[in-house]
Amino acid sequence: MNFLDLSLNDNEWGNLMFGEKAPLTLPSDSLQASWCGTSGKSLAAQTVAFYKLIKRSYEQHTGLPIKDAKLLDFGCGWGRIIRLFLKDIVPEKIYGCDVDSDILNWCKSIPGNFAVSETRPEKLPFSVDFDLIYAFSVFTHLGKETHMDCLKALHAGLRLGGILIVTVRPKEFIHSRGIEMKNLSDADVDNLLRKFDNGDYVYFPYNMAPVRGEIPYGDTVIPKKYILDHWQSLFDVIEFSPFAADPMQVSVVLRKK
Ligand SMILES: C[S@@+](CC[C@H](N)C(=O)[O-])C[C@H]1O[C@@H](n2cnc3c(N)ncnc32)[C@H](O)[C@@H]1O
Repeated sequence: MNFLDLSLNDNEWGNLMFGEKAPLTLPSDSLQASWCGTSGKSLAAQTVAFYKLIKRSYEQHTGLPIKDAKLLDFGCGWGRIIRLFLKDIVPEKIYGCDVDSDILNWCKSIPGNFAVSETRPEKLPFSVDFDLIYAFSVFTHLGKETHMDCLKALHAGLRLGGILIVTVRPKEFIHSRGIEMKNLSDADVDNLLRKFDNGDYVYFPYNMAPVRGEIPYGDTVIPKKYILDHWQSLFDVIEFSPFAADPMQVSVVLRKK
């Protein structure tokens, strides 16, 4: 099926791809929720909103049409976002990677190029100069060293002037004791809030094996000040805004220097 020929607007397209007659197989509601925090119609609405944000940001900040972009979904999971780009971009220019080979099995039926990536990568698993890379709810989970390894690999994989869009957590995530932070004491939460206000990297690792000396995955809140202080040698920060469709994500739009 050639999805490029469909004359649907973005919302109609989202309803098709996440509806009962979806042309590509969808995981069960429980797998969707375990991977993305929610499922069904609410996940579909959030996914379409992020897809529209990516397209708008790319076209606005480069002046180029999305249809010409070589695109990478970094930490693509079961491919819920990347499948929407089949309406805009030929599959030859669509790429996705994730560290988890089991979840990547869900991407096998999605036209495009998929590969397993390293947890602490020195480079991306594709030899491509990307125009656009996005990572939804990936930098919301990475350890400090791991996040810098990923950021450098993404920088190396983008063409000069290419666009990177990631999400990070708002301060409210600490206040509301999101995910594994639910077991923290009041004193621990106050301590993390102080770190956030100082512009420090806030990270609460999960109980798992370290990779090159760091537990790579947990709950992460990166303050805007940290991004301005530590990411700007690689990228210009061109937008930092709450993501209306999910109050626990903030979208950050960056341009490769
Ligand atoms: C919360 S899920 C989000 C998945 C997907 N981006 C989405 O929004 O549906 C986080 C994803 O990041 C992946 N991940 C974890 N560590 C990673 C790393 N170091 N590099 C790339 N992906 C990673 C996980 O396997 C998982 O698929």
